[in-house]
Amino acid sequence: MSYKNMTAAEAAALINDGDVVGFSGFTPAGAPKVVPNAIAERAEAEHAAGRPFKIGMYTGASTGDMLDGALARANAVLFRTPYQSNKDLRTRINAQEAHYFDMHLSHEAQELRYGFLPRPKFAIVEACDLTDDGEIVPTSGVGILPTICRLADHIIVELNTTTPKALRGIHDIYEPQDPPMRQAIPVYRVSDRCGEPCVKVDPRKIVAVVESNVPNGGGKFAPIDDVTTKIGENVAHFLAAEIKAGRIPASFLPIQSGVGNIANAVLASLGENPDIPPFEMYTEVIQDAVIGLMKEGHVKFASGCSLTVSQPVLEDVYQNLDFFKQRIVLRPQEISNNPEVARRLGLITINTALEADIFGNINSTHVLGTKMMNGIGGSCDFTRNAYISIFTTPSTAKDGKISAIVPMVSHLDQSEHSVKVLITEYGVADLRGKSPIQRAHCIIDNCVHPDYRDMLRRYIESAPKAHTPMNIYTCFEMHKAFAETGDMHNAKL
Ligand code: COA
Repeated sequence: MSYKNMTAAEAAALINDGDVVGFSGFTPAGAPKVVPNAIAERAEAEHAAGRPFKIGMYTGASTGDMLDGALARANAVLFRTPYQSNKDLRTRINAQEAHYFDMHLSHEAQELRYGFLPRPKFAIVEACDLTDDGEIVPTSGVGILPTICRLADHIIVELNTTTPKALRGIHDIYEPQDPPMRQAIPVYRVSDRCGEPCVKVDPRKIVAVVESNVPNGGGKFAPIDDVTTKIGENVAHFLAAEIKAGRIPASFLPIQSGVGNIANAVLASLGENPDIPPFEMYTEVIQDAVIGLMKEGHVKFASGCSLTVSQPVLEDVYQNLDFFKQRIVLRPQEISNNPEVARRLGLITINTALEADIFGNINSTHVLGTKMMNGIGGSCDFTRNAYISIFTTPSTAKDGKISAIVPMVSHLDQSEHSVKVLITEYGVADLRGKSPIQRAHCIIDNCVHPDYRDMLRRYIESAPKAHTPMNIYTCFEMHKAFAETGDMHNAKL
């Protein structure tokens, strides 16, 4: 079948106000770029003409600025799920100008299939190859691409000419059946493949093919500083001690590692620690550090949903595909983040908190309880089903004026029941087998910044004696002090 080639503007003209659109990719990797940008321009033109124009949006996770950023700036977002990290979109969400609902990344595809969410009319997907009989080969991120292609009435394919067609073979596309027909997902080892190298669709659904030459690589990570280095070393020492104690097998277990600078630094520390054997990763995003560690032999294999790497690292991968295709598999997020697989493989999960409380509850999403930062991403998918779940955070934020550890989290993403270990630059709080009061002392003694330790000790003493010593009258005093004076040091505790 020969497809209709269109410009981005022509393809964008197919989308109308109120349409629900699913986008491929995961982070900027694999997300379409030129068509969403053209939809944003169309929205601006419609708004200038006095007509409404907003679309409902499903993505895999965060995307690039040409998608989330452009549509947010054009005020063209009717609703949006799941994870996002774009500054302009965050501003719209916090101004209640775009409805955002945060959800577990592993749930999204199935909730679309179950009909819990409005069905996408269009799927706009990035591909490195497209065949006449409807085979779509994703680029460096997969996300929800298979599900939206199947559910949508119409598909627009962005053919990315910067991505080699030889990427075919790195993906493993598998979509589980829905209950009561679902079977075990046959991934028993990190490197197992159980699906197809591409997505197969009815070619008649492909209404437009648009060429794009915008590369998929991202920016560089911030240089590793003293605090992130120390956090990384603390994680590595803890895991090495667990191997020594026989609680983690000597051959080690697969690592899941979160997003951002701390995650990148933690991985670098794991690679450098001589007591950590070469390891595998079953994770969501494969970041720069993984590629470096793979070349050095510290990472043996990585399964993920996207290659979220800087542009030079992406080019390195493309130039050495023979090497990397034997060591990397990219899966839909329903499989990369699947709780069944996470529990079976026995993942060591390492994610980042914005805020933790003295009992081990975690807030990863809401700044001071109200403002959405990014979303939960896959952190709950992994944490709840981990072999051992670790949360890391610098002990303070905003030049020490915020303690990351407070009497009570101002928003809850992970409960104390799922979080096994908390690590800051000061040390490690191993929460396993500890009661709430024991956890509180362990976290204060080992993780809290020295400036805030006595304040938190006084708080516990002020709480009525109970299983969980919480003072309902003062548990937000530190947040209140920050809101009123710009500094938690002024909390009246
Ligand atoms: N209260 C208020 N603000 C805080 C804070 C706190 N307790 N802790 C940090 N901040 C601020 C920082 O100062 C920074 O502000 P800025 O953007 O104005 O500079 C911002 O929050 C981000 O902090 P930073 O330390 O740079 O974050 P990061 O890049 O390490 O990301 C998360 C941390 C939690 C936002 C990020 O890991 C995330 O989105 N996690 C949820 C999803 C997830 O875990 N995904 C992986 C699963 S696979």
